[in-house]
Amino acid sequence: MKTVKWGILGLGKIAQYFVEDLLKVDNAELYAVASRSLTKAEEFSNNFQAKKAYGSYEELYKDDNVDVIYIATPHAFHYQNALDAIKSKKAVLCEKPIALNAIQAQEMIEAARTHNVFFMEAIWTNFMPHLDKTLEISSEKRYGDIKHINAEFCFKANYDPKGRLFNPLLGGGALLDIGMYPVFLSLKLLGIPKEIKATQKQAKTGVDMETSIQFIYPNGATAILFCSFDKTTPSEAIIEFENATVKLHSRFHQTDEMSINYNGSVEYFNFNYRHRGYNFEIQHVQDCLSKGLTESPKLTLDFSLSLMKILDEIKTIAEASPLS
Ligand SMILES: NC(=O)c1ccc[n+]([C@@H]2O[C@H](COP(=O)([O-])OP(=O)(O)OC[C@H]3O[C@@H](n4cnc5c(N)ncnc54)[C@H](OP(=O)(O)O)[C@@H]3O)[C@@H](O)[C@H]2O)c1
Repeated sequence: MKTVKWGILGLGKIAQYFVEDLLKVDNAELYAVASRSLTKAEEFSNNFQAKKAYGSYEELYKDDNVDVIYIATPHAFHYQNALDAIKSKKAVLCEKPIALNAIQAQEMIEAARTHNVFFMEAIWTNFMPHLDKTLEISSEKRYGDIKHINAEFCFKANYDPKGRLFNPLLGGGALLDIGMYPVFLSLKLLGIPKEIKATQKQAKTGVDMETSIQFIYPNGATAILFCSFDKTTPSEAIIEFENATVKLHSRFHQTDEMSINYNGSVEYFNFNYRHRGYNFEIQHVQDCLSKGLTESPKLTLDFSLSLMKILDEIKTIAEASPLS
């Protein structure tokens, strides 16, 4: 397989974790890094031995040697960064959430299809062994149908009104940052709900500090989902099938542990990752590129659009019923 030359755009916290995994993936090359600051790009490049360090994102878009750009900026910039990269005919892996809303997501997807370039949302959970196993159990109906999902993702965040988590100008709020994972899980396992109920508690900046969600499905299945920047919880997911309970251990979106309780006997799985877990999505993108695909069959753009539409809907419902 040909070496894939990666370009990293936006050199914050997640870019660093991602690159640490990328360096351990076969046929992946950290080719270029781009920051708004050349000094920062050079420092990052020295730490991880990238071939090129750019002090602007535009230079990365223009580099003909780059095979794929990983966008790791705050959510508010995914739309513009992805459009710029796509229009430069670059394949794009864009951090979650793909955009701030479904209108932006739709335009980005149409641009990728028009320019015939690979585009995918970086929902790393989608490529992890514990999710594969859960989907397999569900689709084979080994334990019957799913009756209920209970999933949450919460951590006590330091309140900084200018930081990414609370600043509305950077796309702040718990729902888009961490609540998207429980919503993703429900969408993946049960599809689109027929009814959504939601409430939120707001931070002083006006973004959601926490959001509580209930999904009701046409077959009677339900999901209770929760996210918060105001408290730390185990952040597990419990999936109740007709005949067994599947637990994705803490933190469920990135875990290598899961268990199945069937008739009181518990089967335990540990997938023992050697990496943080970004390697799975990195490998998948490289596989797609080597096959000449412009879209992942495992995480389609239509799925990302549906997810964004549901997040929009939850936001609208929750904003209309805030908790004091
Ligand atoms: N998949 C995961 O596990 C995971 C985990 C955490 C975050 N994320 C996602 O990754 C994205 C980035 O999160 P992060 O925690 O890495 O954020 P971060 O540490 O704040 O880094 C974001 C980077 O974006 C660039 N940027 C461009 N314009 C900016 C602006 N106006 N203000 C601030 N930064 C700006 C900066 O890089 P330069 O200064 O180099 O240009 C900054 O370092 C978010 O969308 C988040 O949802 C994903």
